Amino acid sequence: MPLLGVNVDHVAAIRQARFTSYPDPLEAALVCEKAGADGITIHLREDRRHIQEKDCLRIKKKIKTKLNLEMALSREITNFALKLHPDDVCIVPEKRKELTTEGGLDVFKHEKELKKIIPLFSKKGIRVSLFIEASEKAIALSKKLGADAVELHTGAYANLRGQSRAKELIRIKKASSFALKQGLLLNAGHGLDYDNTPPIARIKGMNELNIGHSIIAYAVFAGLDRAVRDMKKLLS
Ligand code: PXP
Repeated sequence: MPLLGVNVDHVAAIRQARFTSYPDPLEAALVCEKAGADGITIHLREDRRHIQEKDCLRIKKKIKTKLNLEMALSREITNFALKLHPDDVCIVPEKRKELTTEGGLDVFKHEKELKKIIPLFSKKGIRVSLFIEASEKAIALSKKLGADAVELHTGAYANLRGQSRAKELIRIKKASSFALKQGLLLNAGHGLDYDNTPPIARIKGMNELNIGHSIIAYAVFAGLDRAVRDMKKLLS
């Protein structure tokens, strides 16, 4: 059974929409842990649209499982991550205008920067994962650059339907077995939901799935009934 890392960025996104103090992503992280999450994932974006530095520090201090920090290849974020000392960092591509991470990191284009940055984390005992497309070439280069893990991008798989999705699943499976043969930890994530996750979770050797959007979306309806009832009670 793969580990489940729950991404709580969306909780911070709701808070930042109003700049209130709630909902608190730390509180969410603690609920996720209590419910069985094996780790908490957060993405400190360069534009700080959801998670803030303060959230990272508070979450790191209070959670009992492990912290996976998603981050772009930026000097500023790298310096912060080295100080934060999460258990894992997952290096992702980042564009200002995107709604969420779109596609895997181009490890070929960023080879030079990765060569510099990966050892900084490794020396501190922080595991490095690269969020990449399910391609053998990208996996082989990730290994060469000293990554401990790869997180295979499942966004395209999640968006496809029927035969096209089945084909993408085969590509992910092939890449998965190649990554394992290279001695890399195998993770996957993006766009995974209550319908499309089982085939990915069944991939042999899958270490961890990082899931955010679908879990937080489900939580809205799992909790909306109670939220309205409690407000009605208050009014009476
Ligand atoms: N893995 C990575 C590398 C991501 O960037 C994200 C989105 O922040 C996720 C997993 C989670 O994706 P989703 O919110 O679609 O479940």
